[in-house]
Amino acid sequence: CMKGVILAGGFGTRLQPMTNVTNKHLLPVYDKPMIYYPIETLVSAGITDILIVTGSEHAGDFLNLLGDGENFGCNFTYKVQKDAGGIAAALALAENFAGRDSIAVILGDNIYDFDFKNSVENFDESGAEIFLKEVEDPKRFGVATIEKDIVTEIVEKPKNPKTNFAVTGIYFYNYLVWQVIEKIVPSERGEKEITDVNNWYIEHGLMRHRIIEEFWSDAGTPDSLLKSSNHIKNREK
Ligand code: DAU
Repeated sequence: CMKGVILAGGFGTRLQPMTNVTNKHLLPVYDKPMIYYPIETLVSAGITDILIVTGSEHAGDFLNLLGDGENFGCNFTYKVQKDAGGIAAALALAENFAGRDSIAVILGDNIYDFDFKNSVENFDESGAEIFLKEVEDPKRFGVATIEKDIVTEIVEKPKNPKTNFAVTGIYFYNYLVWQVIEKIVPSERGEKEITDVNNWYIEHGLMRHRIIEEFWSDAGTPDSLLKSSNHIKNREK
């Protein structure tokens, strides 16, 4: 069965000064703290064994807010990322938690309407799976090139995107992911990039993808945070 990992570290610099004295994932998206949404995404997909990776500064706040998971119908384990060495570096902390199981990794600032239950149940454990969404501003994201229904390359925040397909912040990986992360070297911005992990699976013919039609947004910039809040407000009406 699949385990879940929520990545909620990083410094949230794009949301300063809102993130000066708290963690980005504790900020409200309409009427709930941001991290509630990725939790609900995993739990409604049937994933109930969940590791939360936080930054060291506000780790206690997460524990106070979320507890052991009983209120969410799941089990939480916590890990602390001491620096902000990148998404793949944060994920590396989940190795012992995962053991030989496959994992669904979700970024703590990603908001989905899509129901991943079927994708979880049908995950092909010989590789990995990503979820793409057509967007108007692909430059902000990892961008996928698709040829004959196969993803051939992902470029992280390209200046001249070749397509409008953003790689959204949920990733399914088999047990190979731990060896892959070990080999990744930090990018120019000093981070171990999740895009490099995904490109390894692509190069080895082990990556599948699915295009999402439902709402998806990150909430990591002032505009995308507002957009997400407005969407949740309308959804709840
Ligand atoms: O939202 C989707 C995008 O997320 C993808 O399209 C990109 O390919 C992917 O690189 C990522 O881009 P961002 O630059 O927007 O990621 P950001 O630095 O905002 O980090 C996203 C989440 O990952 C953040 O909410 C917490 C977690 N994180 C990030 C870093 C850098 C950590 O837990 N530790 C970290 O060191």
